[in-house]
Amino acid sequence: MTQEHRTKSGFETRAIHAGYEPDAMTGSVIPPIYATSTYKQDGVGGLRGGYEYSRSGNPTRTALEGNIAALEEGERGFAFASGLAAEDTLVRGLLDPGDHVVLPGDAYGGTFRLFDRVEKRWGVEHSPAELSDVDAVAAAIRPGQTKIVWVETPTNPLLGIADIEALAGLAHDAGALLVVDNTFASPYLQRPLTLGADVVVHSTTKYAGGHSDVIGGAVVVRDLELAEKIGYHQNAMGAVAGPFDCWLVLRGLKTLAVRMDRHCDNAEQVVEFLGSHPAVTQIYYPGLPAHPGHEVAARQMSRFGGMVSFRVAGGEPQALAVCERAEVFTLGESLGGVESLIEHPGRMTHASVAGTALEVPGDLVRLSVGIETVEDLIKDLDRALG
Ligand SMILES: Cc1ncc(COP(=O)(O)O)c(C=O)c1O
Repeated sequence: MTQEHRTKSGFETRAIHAGYEPDAMTGSVIPPIYATSTYKQDGVGGLRGGYEYSRSGNPTRTALEGNIAALEEGERGFAFASGLAAEDTLVRGLLDPGDHVVLPGDAYGGTFRLFDRVEKRWGVEHSPAELSDVDAVAAAIRPGQTKIVWVETPTNPLLGIADIEALAGLAHDAGALLVVDNTFASPYLQRPLTLGADVVVHSTTKYAGGHSDVIGGAVVVRDLELAEKIGYHQNAMGAVAGPFDCWLVLRGLKTLAVRMDRHCDNAEQVVEFLGSHPAVTQIYYPGLPAHPGHEVAARQMSRFGGMVSFRVAGGEPQALAVCERAEVFTLGESLGGVESLIEHPGRMTHASVAGTALEVPGDLVRLSVGIETVEDLIKDLDRALG
């Protein structure tokens, strides 16, 4: 796909074509899985296409990196072995000991653990802030020391919404970068770089891969100096995605748009059902007009996504029972695959933040609404709620 097409064509066209030209020799329309660690050189230093060793570069990875960069409307993409590997490379690649990061008050538990138990030991400090409150973020910024404001929107698992444009302004005024974890929305629903963010990070394990069959991460940036630093650390730290994993994520991205539309359709109907159920005491979904972040979400997202959380009457025992009674919704961690998943954040994905400021309520249930027949999903929830 030419540079002109890459920037001018629609999202679905980019999803299917960006990052790869049919192979010159065979015409293969799908990038081969280049299962090779090294490349024959035509004389010392005579690299073909710049490939010398697969930690530094691999053509299947190049295809994925070009594709996800085009979807996020960025200049450069980088693929990693997991979302957390992407985050770690970003943090240690861009920050020095003594630097400070503002984190979401309800950050994904693994991201919080990475900062709290790992990066802190290397001198990177962090503090949480309620990201839906711009004044609270301003107060958490330490002038001269804060180098990153880290945003998740929507957040996991409480579906909080942060105003990307407002926070980008705030971060930039303080000389900090705005990093957005776009895992929950995916580039189909939200493109943070177009709203002023400097870096987008993904767990491609989720909607990007979309089929619960791969662990992966990605970083996308516009600024070429930032890209240079991230590319250097991707190679120097080595947490790269392997060629088969890249191929799976690339295949997933081709259908991202149609999958996301069905995830959103189904989630909207599930939310409507939950809203009328007497055992449900609260629903967290940014598509609800009563959600405090609804207006911001409507401005920066094209739709509201497939993640829904809710609280149940009867406290933690009842929330656990709902998770265990569901059948079409599979009890499991992760999200963003074609199949619906149900989980208890307090005991599962967010167990690592128990006892911290990020602890989640015990009566909370999280759904990753899949793309099955929606009537079956609703019947299943009805039975599970008793
Ligand atoms: C929002 C978010 N960011 C990052 C991650 C970490 O990604 P991975 O599990 O691919 O390392 C997750 C995983 O659940 C996530 O939900």
